[in-house]
This record gives sequence, structure tokens and C-alpha cells, in this order.
Amino acid sequence: MSEKQPKTIIITGAASGIGFAFAEHLAQAGNRIVIADLRGAEEAAGCLKAAGHQALGVQVDVVSEADVTRMAEAATAAFGGIDGLVNNAGLFTTLALRPFEEIPNQEWMRVMEVNTLGPFNCAKAVLPALRKSGRGRIVNIASTVPIKGPPNMAHYVASKGAVIAFTRSLARELAKDSITVNAIAPGFTLSDGVLQEGLQDRIGANARTAGRCIQRDQVPGDLVAALAYLVGDGAAFVTGQTLAVDGGGVFL
Ligand SMILES: NC(=O)c1ccc[n+]([C@@H]2O[C@H](COP(=O)([O-])OP(=O)(O)OC[C@H]3O[C@@H](n4cnc5c(N)ncnc54)[C@H](O)[C@@H]3O)[C@@H](O)[C@H]2O)c1
Repeated sequence: MSEKQPKTIIITGAASGIGFAFAEHLAQAGNRIVIADLRGAEEAAGCLKAAGHQALGVQVDVVSEADVTRMAEAATAAFGGIDGLVNNAGLFTTLALRPFEEIPNQEWMRVMEVNTLGPFNCAKAVLPALRKSGRGRIVNIASTVPIKGPPNMAHYVASKGAVIAFTRSLARELAKDSITVNAIAPGFTLSDGVLQEGLQDRIGANARTAGRCIQRDQVPGDLVAALAYLVGDGAAFVTGQTLAVDGGGVFL
């Protein structure tokens, strides 16, 4: 199988932010991209198409089983199959920073729904197609926060810990189907959502780069090559791993 043979890859939460950077990069490499997002999916896919790439936008709430079933059906109808899923949609940038005892139960539940039930739902929905592919890839976007354990976002930290654990369990279950399952753990990244919400100022310049070997802010473009590697055929023997891409902030 050629290293450059294109794949059909669904990326959730890819209408903006880190997800859109992933979509653009994988599209530029010749892959067919399905952008699945709560809002802006068709417009984002339109941008890729205008640049000459193959893309489809689907409006999806990853928490809804019906939505993600429709997403898998639309991807298969448009491109004849699915080879990869990137579980990138997540609740992070809109969350208030506060002590754990002040987090309302409803907010805890919603973060867990989007960040853990979402990837579970999406993986289930695309599984039959990934099995057919024979070179399926699931990449879950986790975070370095479960390793570092920062305060004031306990639900988010717990949810990303669950994503890493889910990745490992799924890797063991799906290897027999030639599907690899890995995670990328970004450090704090200046994504669209972060900048819109002013999260970089609330966290502060020192905290953003504290403990990093490479002392600068991280941007979405820092993450795209790691994803390209994990979805590529060259990573067929790599599974269950969490790849930290954070300028050397944590060592896994
Ligand atoms: N930005 C960071 O510092 C950072 C660090 C580590 C990990 N991450 C993770 O990377 C991913 C992307 O982060 P980002 O900073 O680009 O976020 P963002 O807020 O800029 O973008 C998130 C995207 O997900 C979509 N989305 C949210 N809920 C959804 C749902 N229920 N169904 C479908 N789409 C939904 C949003 O519409 C948005 O387009 C998230 O999983 C986040 O937790 C971010």
C-alpha cells in the first residue's frame, strides 16, 4: 500500500480551530475530508473545495447517535467508504475556570458527554466502514492536562484522562480489524476558540509556557504533522499510544 494513497477521513469539530487546521493539512495531502461540526461545517468544507480539495460538510452534534449515524452514511455515500476518524470536537475553550466545588453537576455532565460520549458514539458509527477499509485509523484528540493536572477545570481534565484510557482499550479491541487507535495530547494551543474567548489572557503568558522545553506559544499548525503521521500507512504498527505535542512540556 502506497504511503501516499489518499484516505477518507472524518474530523469532528473541524469547522474551526485545531480541527480546521487538521482538515486543511490532510486535504492538502490529497485526502478526502469530512468536516463534522455543530455549526459551520458546510462553509468550512466549502473553503477546502474552493482550494481544489475533496471535502464534505455535515452538521453534527457528536453526542447524538442519530447525527453521527447520518455523518457516517453521508461520508460513505459521498466517498464510497471511511478510512479514518479524528475525534477532535470538544468542550474546552468556552469553559469557565473555577474550583471544582463550584462546577455545576450539569456542566460536569455536559463536558463528559461531548468529550467522552462523543468519541465513543463516533467510533461506533464509523466502525463497520473502518473494518471494511482494512487500514482504519482512529485518532482521539486528548490533552496534556491529565498528565499535568492543572486546577480549576476538573471536569475537562477528567474527560481528557478518559479519552486516553478509551484510546488504549479500543486499540486492543480493534487491532484484529487492522484499525489503529491513538491519541494526540496537545499543550495549550492558540486556537480560534481560545483567542475568541480570551482564554490565553485568563491563563496568562507564564502558565501557557511553564515547564515547556520550547519556550513559545503553541499554534494549531504545530499539531498537524503528528496527525498526518498517525493516519498515514507508515503508522500501521503504532497503536494505543498518546503522542504529546506540546514543545516538551510533558514526557510520556
Ligand atoms: N486549544 C487548546 O489549548 C487545546 C489543548 C489541548 C487539547 N485541545 C483539544 O483540541 C480540540 C479542539 O480544540 P480547539 O481549541 O480547536 O477548540 P475550539 O473551541 O476552537 O473548536 C472546537 C470545535 O468543536 C465544535 N464542537 C463543540 N461541541 C461539539 C459537538 N457537540 N458536536 C460537534 N462539534 C462540536 C465547535 O463547534 C468547534 O468548531 C478539543 O478536543 C480540545 O479539548 C485543545
